Amino acid sequence: MYNEIVMDHFQNPRNIGEMTEPSGVGEVGNMKCGDIMKIFIKVEDGVIEDINFLTFGCGAAIASSSVLTEMVKGKTLEEALAITNKQVADELGGLPEAKMHCSNLAADALHKAIEDYRQKQTA
Ligand code: FES
Repeated sequence: MYNEIVMDHFQNPRNIGEMTEPSGVGEVGNMKCGDIMKIFIKVEDGVIEDINFLTFGCGAAIASSSVLTEMVKGKTLEEALAITNKQVADELGGLPEAKMHCSNLAADALHKAIEDYRQKQTA
């Protein structure tokens, strides 16, 4: 049911694992299935230097977060905030309609991680 790009990211996820001393962390849960996504970012001079993810989710959620980390690395915070759930799914070459909600976790968790980083800056 998944295309080749999705399968590749699902089977060989990029940038998976916890990050030591992240600049920001974002976590979101999916109400429908109870799955959880966590994104860690390292920010330097307004640029996302590094990004990792952890997910307790399905193949589409894993593939979405994996491809998102590749889309975001080296981007400014503004550029990263502009990434939409649809862009993530498009980058994967599309997802089955029933799995679109899974891909939403990735961009949402990223946006939360950026929010967390910004809050820490002003604290
Ligand atoms: Fe839960 Fe996909 S079924 S994230």
